[in-house]
Amino acid sequence: SRPLLMDCDTGIDDAIALLYLCQTPGVDLRAVTTVAGNTSAELAARNTLQVLETAGRARIPVAAGAGTTLRGVTRPEADFVHGKGGLGGVTRPDPTTALDPRHATRLIIDTAEEAGGELEILATAPLTNLALALREEPRLPELVRHVTVMGGAIHHPGNISPVAEANIGNDPEAAELVLSAGWDVTLVPLDVTMRENLTEAHRQRLLANGTPLCQLAGEILDFYFTFHEETALPFRGAALHDPLAAAIAIGEVTPTSAPRLSVTVDTADGAARGAVVADTRGLHRGYPAQPEANAAVVLETDGTFPELLIERLCRTTR
Ligand code: BDR
Ligand code: CA
Repeated sequence: SRPLLMDCDTGIDDAIALLYLCQTPGVDLRAVTTVAGNTSAELAARNTLQVLETAGRARIPVAAGAGTTLRGVTRPEADFVHGKGGLGGVTRPDPTTALDPRHATRLIIDTAEEAGGELEILATAPLTNLALALREEPRLPELVRHVTVMGGAIHHPGNISPVAEANIGNDPEAAELVLSAGWDVTLVPLDVTMRENLTEAHRQRLLANGTPLCQLAGEILDFYFTFHEETALPFRGAALHDPLAAAIAIGEVTPTSAPRLSVTVDTADGAARGAVVADTRGLHRGYPAQPEANAAVVLETDGTFPELLIERLCRTTR
């Protein structure tokens, strides 16, 4: 598969996405960069190192990036969603690997240059690092083959406001810059990620499996399940936001509907700040081509991903 860089805010579902990518044969994960979102950029980087060490992939470079939004706002941690420290309050010994000394934006640009136009980016967090990298290297869209973004809510309600989803809504200016940069983008919104769910039975399979990797996954999901049960789902379980985006990015899940649409982000200071405005007016007429379309927007997947994910996490050989 093509070289991949993941930009994330690890975070429980980011961690599961990382474990999934590490467990999937042929995935060439070149670097991981972190940004403030679920937790601080530094804590997200530390969590990422621990996750990669547990997966036996400590040599993948990890760099921390933006701690504030493009407007310079420092947000509080989303510990009510992801628990204290970002991994559901689960603690492991300190990582033994050091962070890459580069800033995340530099690691993104360097990795893109080294991959000679083949790099694909998976972004599962506020898009601040990618926006800063675009400012630093305006040729970046020519150096990157594809960008998959977990973010937005099209027909589905938002999760940080009635209309805004966290990754877009926590830095709308960055999201608008990234979506309009002219590169090939796939957007994976709440419309699909809220429907591909893990259940307590899945979590028990992870815990029963007993490998350090499955043990970590099962433990961190406990907090995430409680949060979902209390706020977002009618049962004890979890949405698979970032893991589903990862599976779509590497081509393992093929969306059953992903029309190319024109999408913008509302950056005004009003009730719709951070909403993704997608022009879906032509959809009922069978997706007429939108010449100005700037993203493929995933509107349907077939629901088979949760089972695939558990089997993948539980596999013992690479
Ligand atoms: C997104 O927000 C974060 O809390 C999750 O990790 C995911 O990337 C879902 O809105
Ligand atoms: Ca995330």
